[in-house]
Parts: sequence; C-alpha cells; structure tokens
Amino acid sequence: MNKTLRRPVIAGNWKMNKTPAQTKALIEELKPLVEGADCEVVLCVPYIDLQAALDAAQGSNIKIGAENCHWAESGAFTGEVSALMLKDMGVPYVIIGHSERRQYFGETDISVRERTRAALDAGLKVILCVGELKEERLDDITAEVVRMQTKLALKDVTEAELENIIIAYEPVWAIGTGLTATPQQANEVNALIRSLIEELYGKNAAEKIVIQYGGSMNEVNAQELLACPDIDGGLIGGASLVAEKFAAVVAAASQ
Ligand code: 13P
Repeated sequence: MNKTLRRPVIAGNWKMNKTPAQTKALIEELKPLVEGADCEVVLCVPYIDLQAALDAAQGSNIKIGAENCHWAESGAFTGEVSALMLKDMGVPYVIIGHSERRQYFGETDISVRERTRAALDAGLKVILCVGELKEERLDDITAEVVRMQTKLALKDVTEAELENIIIAYEPVWAIGTGLTATPQQANEVNALIRSLIEELYGKNAAEKIVIQYGGSMNEVNAQELLACPDIDGGLIGGASLVAEKFAAVVAAASQ
C-alpha cells in the first residue's frame, strides 16, 4: 500500500478546554506557525467555541471541527447539537465515537453508527474513533474489538461516502496517560484497520483512507509515529492546547 496516496491529517481535540476568548488567542498564535503545513490541519473544539474558532481561522489553512453531533436532524434532545446545525454554521469536521464519549456518556457502537450516518448525510467529514481498553489489550482481543467497532460504525457507509471518513485509532490506555503506544503497536492496529477496509470496500478504498493514531501523541514522539507506513496523521489531545507543541506535530507530518 502506497502511503504517498494519502495526505496526512493532524487534528487537535481540545476536549472540554478553552473559552471563546482563549480559542481566538490560541488560533491567532497557531496560524503563523502552521501556515506552510504540507498536511491537513484541523482543530476540533467545544460547541461554544466553534464560532470564535471559525472566525479566527478564516482565510488560514486551519479547518474547524466539533467534538460530537447527534443522530437526529432536530427534536427533543436537550443539550444536544445536530450535524445539520454544524453544517449550517460552516463547520466541516466532526469527531464521532471518542472513547471519552463511550466511557462517560454511554456512547455505544450503535449510537456511533447513527451519529456517523447523520454527519455524512449532513455533508460533514467524520473523524471516527476506535480503540481498545487496557484490559482488552491484556486479554489479547485488541484486533477483535477494533474490528468490531469499525465494522459496526461503517455498516451503512458506502464506498463513495468513505471519502468523508477518517479513522482515528486511539488505544484508551494511551489517552491522557502519557503512555504512548509504541510505533510498532500503533502501526499494527492501523494496518489491521486498513486490511478490514480492504475486505469491506476493496484495495482502492483501503489505499485512500486516512487512518490516524491518537493517544499521548506530542512534539517528541510524533515524528517516529508518523513515519510508520499505516499511520497517516494524529488526533492530538493535550499537546493541541499549546501552540508550539501542536505546530511541532504538524511540522513532523509535513516532512
Ligand atoms: P491525549 O493526546 O491527551 O492523550 O488525547 C488523545 C485523544 O484522546 C485525542 O482525541
């Protein structure tokens, strides 16, 4: 499989961090640091920060995303935001199925599938997160878990729609822990996801799909991870909150 067919995507996931004023400041600081990037640069921010982020990023190479969306177009779902609302305000990307949503907010493989469906229908690009728990890795069922999560999320997704999907492999034990998967561990699972895509959609689709790694990726380890043949970018938590650190990851992906 030829890695050069894929343009790397470095996405920040700010999680529940930054106010609108802080959003503006961080993006202003980041813009000159990433303007020459030879990769896609995306920042996924809290709903409340989206407008400030869109305004601050306007005219730059930074794209903005949300961190979740609901599966319905509208309705009685207090506290939720639909994919159509995001699309209407000009947000191009959305993260779906992050492990923190699964862990703390009852997200299931089925609701991940439904949210993915809604996001694609609205014309958003989806960063679909999959990954095993620590116990699942210790029980040697990482491959089964990741295959199942990916297959269930993509069940209704056509090959043409796959162009709007990025998959982020995020081992849960590596998120926010400072414990990074080794490049070999990360690449092994990314390769496994790619072979599942080949099984489901064919070689062409498998060669084109961007598969990121996420989990304590930072300015120090990014280069080694991104050099792996099946790692096409990163989903960055903590290090995306500091302009120089995130810019260093973007620089590593641009090489
Ligand atoms: P950290 O980079 O903070 O480990 O977070 C990774 C993550 O969950 C990105 O979605």
